[in-house]
Amino acid sequence: MEAEPRTLAPPERRLATVTAVERLGAYTLVRALDAAPAPRPQPGQFYMLAAAARWGGGDDERPYLPRAFSHARVAERPGGLELSFLLEEVGPGTARLAALEAGERLAVVGPLGVGWRAPAAGSRPVLVGGGIGAAPVLCLADELGEDTPVLLGFRSAAHAEAAALFPGPVELATDDGSAGRRGFVTELLRERLDAEPGATVLACGPPPMLEAVRRLCAERRVAAQLAMESGMACGFGACFGCVVPTRDGYLRLCLEGPVLDAGRLETALVAGAGH
Ligand SMILES: Cc1cc2nc3c(=O)[nH]c(=O)nc-3n(C[C@H](O)[C@H](O)[C@H](O)COP(=O)(O)OP(=O)(O)OC[C@H]3O[C@@H](n4cnc5c(N)ncnc54)[C@H](O)[C@@H]3O)c2cc1C
Ligand code: FES
Repeated sequence: MEAEPRTLAPPERRLATVTAVERLGAYTLVRALDAAPAPRPQPGQFYMLAAAARWGGGDDERPYLPRAFSHARVAERPGGLELSFLLEEVGPGTARLAALEAGERLAVVGPLGVGWRAPAAGSRPVLVGGGIGAAPVLCLADELGEDTPVLLGFRSAAHAEAAALFPGPVELATDDGSAGRRGFVTELLRERLDAEPGATVLACGPPPMLEAVRRLCAERRVAAQLAMESGMACGFGACFGCVVPTRDGYLRLCLEGPVLDAGRLETALVAGAGH
């Protein structure tokens, strides 16, 4: 029998304490201390988050369900694990989480899912992040160290402020040219693969970017892993809300992903994923 690839978390919801909230251009970085004896998350795993107060019960009850977030960074502190989440405000849940203040309580369930796998022996990882997809790439860069190539694409310089979180230098592209190269991060990836055709690509970003990465890697027979999104209500396999189509049939992304081998996918353009 194969070893269990997940880091199994205690299944219950617990309360972490927000330690800092920082604005980073277009994004917000929320740090929280998780004092529970929970396992250290693996890069690419995620948590279901909800503010302990003022979550649901408003005029239209939204946000009601918790929301899924990759941890962007983890650090061991005397009182437990400090988890950092990088948020983009797109609706009521992300708006409430971005409005948290130090000292408030954050309800967390996790770490959940299966994150990035180690590349095959001898294949160098190349990390690729698009927009808020930089979050699960950051914790991987922390683990792999500054010599690992990191390619990041953002809409504008305000979004690209997140690049400053990375432990080493990054190659940067923006849609409007206000920071780094003007263009898409996939152009940076194409050049990188010209120089390093034996690399393994580890990518997270919006579905059109992931689909461009998938096609590029398939054309060149380059191994790739894609951190995907889909609507997640529970995060641990109970609701089937997160199913995505693969070459082997439908799978629950919260259990078998969110990181999938690109070769399992006909397309990364999954309905309901991404903003
Ligand atoms: C495994 C995983 C990891 C994620 N990591 C991060 C992260 O690190 N940082 C971050 O900012 N966001 C992340 N997301 C996306 C985040 O969960 C959604 O932005 C959030 O649920 C939106 O909630 P809302 O109430 O603010 O907006 P809603 O009103 O619920 O939605 C606003 C818009 O976002 C879209 N949306 C809603 N939920 C999702 C979802 N789960 N996936 C994709 N699109 C969605 C909706 O279709 C809508 O267009 C992740 C999602 C998954 C599945
Ligand atoms: S989110 Fe409920 S089964 Fe995956």
